[in-house]
Amino acid sequence: MRLEACQGDITTLAVDAIVNAAKRSLLGGGGVDGAIHRAAGPELLAACRLLGGCPTGEARITPGFRLPARYVIHTVGPVWQGGGHDEPTLLASCYRNSLALARQHGLRSVAFPCISTGVYGYPAEAAAQIAVATVLASLAEAGPLDHVYFVCFSVNDLERYQRLLAG
Ligand code: APR
Repeated sequence: MRLEACQGDITTLAVDAIVNAAKRSLLGGGGVDGAIHRAAGPELLAACRLLGGCPTGEARITPGFRLPARYVIHTVGPVWQGGGHDEPTLLASCYRNSLALARQHGLRSVAFPCISTGVYGYPAEAAAQIAVATVLASLAEAGPLDHVYFVCFSVNDLERYQRLLAG
């Protein structure tokens, strides 16, 4: 499996699934969530309404509608509250459960944003370490998944992921 960091707008990627850093209602918001809903079109919100929300740390899947990606995997990251509220475990669950859904659907390529590191305030370095470690830990699992992208919006995040992936 290849793990790769890249910089840009996740909504432009023609992968099997992009992951959305959603909120528990799954009814859209700002940041990457807003960008994904805008690019996918109103059908995405209609599909999300049918899901009835998603607890923190879990993941749900919908089609990608007007996106170049075939699917959107919606996961809800933890709000950073200082680190003593199970935030690391919940963030790792987001990556693990998103990958499990991708494998259940026979997907080969998945692109993650830096979950929880925007509005939800998770410190970027700690979040990136969890993201890389959790994806690496799932490498041995069976399935066709062979490409995971960490899509960074900022050059700081890109450099961070490149360093973690190299080391
Ligand atoms: N492509 C890739 N990354 C993006 C994009 C994009 N188009 N837009 C924003 N980002 C990056 C941000 O720079 C940040 O690094 O995604 C990361 C996650 O930031 P947020 O989108 O704020 O997500 P999060 O911190 O998980 O907060 C989730 O924000 O908009 C709401 O509905 C959402 O309530 C939920 C909360």
